[in-house]
Amino acid sequence: MADQFKSISDEISSFKVATSDDLEAYRLRFIGRKNIIGDLFAQMRNVPNDEKKTFGQKVNELKNLAQNKFQELIESLNSGDSNEESYDDLTLPAAKSSFGSIHPLTATRQRFIQIFERIGFNVSSGPEIEDDWHNFTALNFPENHPAREMQDTFFIEKNPDIALRTHTSSVQIRVLENEEPPIRTLSPGRVFRNEAISARAHCVFHQMEGLYVDKDVSFSDLKQTLFHFAKEMFSKKTQIRFRPSYFPFTEPSAEIDISCQICHGEGCNICKYTGWVEIGGAGMVDPNVLENCNIDSSVYSGFAFGMGIERITMLRYGVKDLRLFTENDVRFLKQFNSL
Ligand code: PHE
Repeated sequence: MADQFKSISDEISSFKVATSDDLEAYRLRFIGRKNIIGDLFAQMRNVPNDEKKTFGQKVNELKNLAQNKFQELIESLNSGDSNEESYDDLTLPAAKSSFGSIHPLTATRQRFIQIFERIGFNVSSGPEIEDDWHNFTALNFPENHPAREMQDTFFIEKNPDIALRTHTSSVQIRVLENEEPPIRTLSPGRVFRNEAISARAHCVFHQMEGLYVDKDVSFSDLKQTLFHFAKEMFSKKTQIRFRPSYFPFTEPSAEIDISCQICHGEGCNICKYTGWVEIGGAGMVDPNVLENCNIDSSVYSGFAFGMGIERITMLRYGVKDLRLFTENDVRFLKQFNSL
């Protein structure tokens, strides 16, 4: 009997598997329903009573040995250190590598620039940390004026104030200070506001502002330019409308709406059944702003507009929550692979 135990235990220890068929052979012999260790259990009734306990223990030890070895064999086969899979098959197709894509906000920014470059606009940039003059005062926000409340931000220093810019209109001031009209410029960039984060608002977002200053620039130029933009950015059928509004740096000022891209004016939950969705603000540059930058407002006039790049991107691609743009979840980003 002792010999039988020894030979089974030796057989288990020296068992090697190279293929899944070998593994199956092992399983049938030592683990399966009618396995050789099970036969030993069946012999139990022929064992004298005083030896039954030792016999039982030994059979159990064999059973555990067989189980543990089975796990080892499975692992060795899976990890490929068996004979069968120990070489590389160079004729197999290569593993696929996945490509990234440009970010949807970048795609919208590039499209913006493309549209406006073709009608003579260039691109300017400026610092994200601004002084009070460029972000507020030169833009005709008097100190302590309630209009500043509309754009609360994060201050880096007080008196004199240095803060994170709330809009890229600050870049327009820098351009007006440093260049002579005619000026046609776009200022894309990151802006900051002290706002609670939600599906529609964030304390960090991106803007695209535009400025055109020359002799005889009128409100009809503003309307035509933005109508052209809306058709190019969205679709040829897009309509546009202006609603009177207020900004300290433009007079008159307007909110710009486009016809709803989902229902085309019929009314749906995206446009809250109005047929229109807001895309930004615009207006004729206030003469005070031109004078603040030493531009003669009796000779020159201009228009300006500003839009959120997140908002335009949400409307373009039907994105319902702007937090998705910064969470960097690849399941979201992968949907833009074709860009
Ligand atoms: N700067 C404004 C804002 O951020 C947008 C704007 C720009 C409005 C130019 C009118 C003209 O809210």
